[in-house]
Amino acid sequence: MSESLIIQASTKAERYAELMVQLRSLIEGESDMIARMANVAGALKEVFGWWWVGFYRVIGDELVLGPYQGPIACTRIAYNRGVCGTAWARKQTVVVPDVEQFAGHIACSSLSRSEIVVPLRKDDEVVGVLDIDSEQLNMFDEIDQKWLEIIANELIID
Ligand code: SME
Repeated sequence: MSESLIIQASTKAERYAELMVQLRSLIEGESDMIARMANVAGALKEVFGWWWVGFYRVIGDELVLGPYQGPIACTRIAYNRGVCGTAWARKQTVVVPDVEQFAGHIACSSLSRSEIVVPLRKDDEVVGVLDIDSEQLNMFDEIDQKWLEIIANELIID
């Protein structure tokens, strides 16, 4: 396992592709979901520098904070509440270009401006979400959605 990520591409899609190759080898053989989440959060934060990158796991009828990189965050989110609870209820990725326009957005940080939440699905059940926040408006697009869904499906869920 290498000690650091080496990302040289300049376009976002190419950077994701380079990261994916290295993440696969980093995570290969690791069976613990928390350990995988921890390294995926660290890698995404290191490569893209977003404000907050992390996971919530479904425990009972709530999402509970898991491994993350960034400032402290809300620890529990109810089903269908906020962007995270909405992605859980819809079983679909939710992209929010401007959090102030999303009714019910939960502001863990007042600096967050845009957000993407990708559900972690196992056998058609949502077992958690990957949540990423940016300080910039309109940060996330279909390229992020595509690659973050690949990461969620391939690297977190076994
Ligand atoms: N904004 C999220 C809450 C989690 S924090 O952003 C880390 C939401 O509305 O669900």
